Amino acid sequence: MAARPRIRALLGGALAAGVAVIGAMAMIPDANAAASTLGAAAAQSGRYFGTAIAASRLGDSAYTTIAAREFNMVTAENEMKPDATEPQRGQFNFSSGDQIYNWATQRGMKVRGHTLAWHSQQPSWWGGISGSSLRQAMIDHINGVMAHYKGKLAYWDVVNEAYNEDGSRRNSNLQQTGNDWIEVAFRTARNADPSVKLCYNDYNIENWSYAKTQGVYRMIQDFKSRGVPIDCVGLQTHFTGGSSLPSNFQTTLSSFAALGVDVALTEVDVTNASTTQYAGLTQACMNVSRCVGITVWGVRDQDSWRSSENPLLFSGSNKKAAYTSVLNALNAAGPTTSPTGGGTQSPTPTTSPTSGGGGGAGRIVGAQSGRCVDVPNASQTNGTRVQLYDCNGQSNQQWTYTSSKQLQIYGSRCLDAAGSGNGAAVQIYSCNGQTNQQWNVNSNGTITGVQSGRCLDVWGTGNGQQIQIYDCNGQANQRFSLS
Ligand code: XIL
Repeated sequence: MAARPRIRALLGGALAAGVAVIGAMAMIPDANAAASTLGAAAAQSGRYFGTAIAASRLGDSAYTTIAAREFNMVTAENEMKPDATEPQRGQFNFSSGDQIYNWATQRGMKVRGHTLAWHSQQPSWWGGISGSSLRQAMIDHINGVMAHYKGKLAYWDVVNEAYNEDGSRRNSNLQQTGNDWIEVAFRTARNADPSVKLCYNDYNIENWSYAKTQGVYRMIQDFKSRGVPIDCVGLQTHFTGGSSLPSNFQTTLSSFAALGVDVALTEVDVTNASTTQYAGLTQACMNVSRCVGITVWGVRDQDSWRSSENPLLFSGSNKKAAYTSVLNALNAAGPTTSPTGGGTQSPTPTTSPTSGGGGGAGRIVGAQSGRCVDVPNASQTNGTRVQLYDCNGQSNQQWTYTSSKQLQIYGSRCLDAAGSGNGAAVQIYSCNGQTNQQWNVNSNGTITGVQSGRCLDVWGTGNGQQIQIYDCNGQANQRFSLS
C-alpha cells in the first residue's frame, strides 16, 4: 500500500521537471510488476502484511528502518494488553500503546488492537477480585480502552486464548465469571466502537482436525447464529514451541471464513524460519478470499519472544530465505484475487455531473463519521492523501463534481486513486483526465472509482482517518454524500 504513493511522489518530481510524457505514461498502474516489500506485495491482492512492534525498540533505527519499509499493519506486542493499559482500577495508561499507534499511523500503517480480555498479562488487581466484580471490571476495561482508541483501529482482538487444547473452555478467572463472558465482551466491544472489526484470537487452531480448532469453530458458529457481534478470527500461527504447519491449514481458514467472518494470521513465527512452512502458510492465506492479512510476531530473530528458535524473517538487517519465499507467494497472488470476494453490489450512478464544471463546490461528508473529506493542511502537493476531518467550510474541503466525473479541488487538483486494488490510497493530484480520477456518485450513497469499480472507504471515524478504495460492501463507512 505504501509503494504507490511513493512512486507518485517521484513522478511528481518528474512532471515538475517537464518530463510530462514519461510521467503520464507511468501513471497507468503497472499491475503486473512484482512488489519488493512485504506490505506492497500483500496490498496487490488487497491484503496487509504486519508485524508486532515493541515500544522499547522504537529507538533502534536498524529495527525501525526494516519495520517502516516492509510492513503496513502493526500490532502492539505487549503495550495494549490489560496489565499495560489499566494497571490500577479505573486508571488507564496509554503512553506506550500510543507511542506505537503514533509511530505506525504517521507512516500510513494500520493498527490492530491486542488484546482486551485474556487469562494472561492481567493487571494484578484482577487477581484480587472474582465473580460479578471481575465481570464488571472486564466490561469497564473494554469500555475504557476502546473509548481511547475509538475510530482509530482496524481490528481489536477482543478475547484471546479462551480455549483448552481439548476444545473445552480454559478455566480462567474470566471463565469463572460465567460461560457467557466471551459474548458479553464482544457485545460490550461493539457498543464501545462500532467502527472496528472485532476478533477472537487463539493459537493451535490451525489444524482443522484438532479438538481445539473445532471447539473455537463451534463458538464462532454459535455466535453467528445468535447474532453475537463478531467479525473475524485470528489464528496466531505460532509454528514454534513444537507446533508446525498442518497440511489442512487452508481448510481451516476457509471453514472459518464460510461462517461469515474474516480470518487472519496474527502472530506468525516458525522454528528456524522453515521456508516451506512460511511459503505454505502464506499460500494458504492467499488461497482464501477472506484471509485479509498476515502478521509476523516481531521483526528480526533477536526481537522474537522465542528468539532461540530464530523464527522470523530477518536476521539482523538481512532478509532470510524465508523472507523471499513469503514475498514470492504474496507477489504470485496479486493483483487478481480479492480478500473480500462476494457480496459486491453494482450501484447505479444517479447524481449527474454538473455541466461544464459550472456547479458550485460542496462537501463530501462521511455517513458514519459526519466528517468531511479534507486535504491535510490545505496542501496542494500532488500525492497528498485525503482524510476525514471536522467539516469547516474551508477550501481544502470544497469539491466540485465536474461533467467529466472528476471531483476537483482548488480548481486544478483532482481526487485521485493511487492504484486500483483494495486499500489503494486516495489522494489529490493534478487533473489529467484519466479514469483513476473519475468517480461515480451513486444512488446507494457510495462513490465508486471508474477505473477500479471500488468504493471510497475509510476504516474509522476520527479526525485524520485516511481515505482509500475498497471492495464495496454496503457498510456505512463507504457511504458519502456530496452536498
Ligand atoms: C507475548 C510477547 O511476545 C512477549 O513479549 C510477552 O512476554 C508475552 O506475550 N500469544 C499472544 C501474544 O497472544 O500476546 C503473546 O505475546 C504470545 C502468545
